[in-house]
Amino acid sequence: MPDLFSPYSLKSVELRNRIAVPPMCQYSAEDGLPNDWHQVHYASLSRGGAGLVIVEATGVAPEGRISPGCLGFWSDEHTPGHAAIVKRINEGGAVPGIQLAHAGRKASANKPWEGDDHIAEDDPRGWQPIGPSAVPFGANLPRTPTEMTKDDIERVKADFVAATKRSVEAGYKWLELHFAHGYLAQSFWSPVANKRDDEYGGSPENRARFLLETIDAVKAVWPEDLPLTVRLGVIEYDGNDDKLVPESIELIKKMKDHGVDFVSVSVGFNTPEANIPWGPAFLAPVSQQIREEADIPVATAWGVDDPVLANKTIEDGQLDLVMVGRAHLANPHWSYDVAKKLGKDSPSWVLPTQYAHWLARYAPADYK
Ligand code: NDP
Ligand code: FNR
Repeated sequence: MPDLFSPYSLKSVELRNRIAVPPMCQYSAEDGLPNDWHQVHYASLSRGGAGLVIVEATGVAPEGRISPGCLGFWSDEHTPGHAAIVKRINEGGAVPGIQLAHAGRKASANKPWEGDDHIAEDDPRGWQPIGPSAVPFGANLPRTPTEMTKDDIERVKADFVAATKRSVEAGYKWLELHFAHGYLAQSFWSPVANKRDDEYGGSPENRARFLLETIDAVKAVWPEDLPLTVRLGVIEYDGNDDKLVPESIELIKKMKDHGVDFVSVSVGFNTPEANIPWGPAFLAPVSQQIREEADIPVATAWGVDDPVLANKTIEDGQLDLVMVGRAHLANPHWSYDVAKKLGKDSPSWVLPTQYAHWLARYAPADYK
């Protein structure tokens, strides 16, 4: 029976353990370009011991960024910076992943610490968001998106393809398509955000079309031997989950048929009118349901950062990987700490010699 520290293989990729760092926006780029902040941040996460480090939501187009500070991959100019991140993640021993994203109607927002709201329409730092329909998210993101034409849909799919090709060139080994959190693809899937009356709206089959077409397009350029994964919000907690969850499971079965290897299970965040039961591993049960009913490996984040609980989700067969976000911001060496707490022998494998040597000899009391 695997536990948190068992290696994990998917296609040709082997992770040294079952711990993944999920994508976490750093809002620290200019023009989408990785800089020193990203290099140090991702190097330290990898050297900290996780098996997989997925680089933050990276815009496939300038208008697909959440904020002006988000990373991008819409031009060849972005490739050297991403290749440098890949090199550093490889050096730390984790597998380098990237989340390719288009923020849709939630785009053109201020950084969280500068308001987390839509940039004012007359502010030149912002841009006009697009979405499946001219329906705003509301709350702090009130701006009405422009309804996408068929040409827009084709263009965004092509942007995903181009960014995927560049991700391959940069050396990423794990691709996660951001189909979650109320951003563009998730909002096509959402009956709340998608009011289209063409073949991209209405029935679940139509609302799935943009997602499945994007998968098909990306799959054609992503290496067959590397994991093609999605992050999908399968549940909203808005009172309509009796319908949404089974529909999402059917969608995941179709995604699998279209070549998706793995799903990171998340919340839809399509509406501010949700009542989310935040709590330890609250998405683990629905993740397990997807794992069993769609017969596909899964991970989830959201409060899976208690060591015993994280280990149990793996041992009990609820999850294939745990995604641990904020705990890694607090402590990039989270894996090392957890190995100690769970009594794993000499987890020097998660630390570079420069650290391991000293901690083996004169470790702080907690680490003995
Ligand atoms: P907010 O971060 O504005 O949060 C909306 C509400 O949910 C707030 O009431 C907030 O509580 C609560 N909340 C959010 N996260 C947690 C949590 N982990 N535990 C307890 N309560 C929480 O919503 P957003 O729509 O901006 O983001 C939704 C989620 O997606 C957030 O959890 C955020 O961490 C994550 N996120 C995703 C990004 C992406 O996919 N690219 C980018 C950035 C964030 P309170 O009012 O107390 O803060
Ligand atoms: C996030 N999250 C997130 N999710 C995502 O799919 N793409 C992203 O780029 C981001 N960005 C982001 C930035 C920051 C600062 C935070 C805190 C979160 C959500 C993240 O991946 C994860 O799901 C949550 O943090 C919940 O997991 P934890 O923190 O409870 O382990």
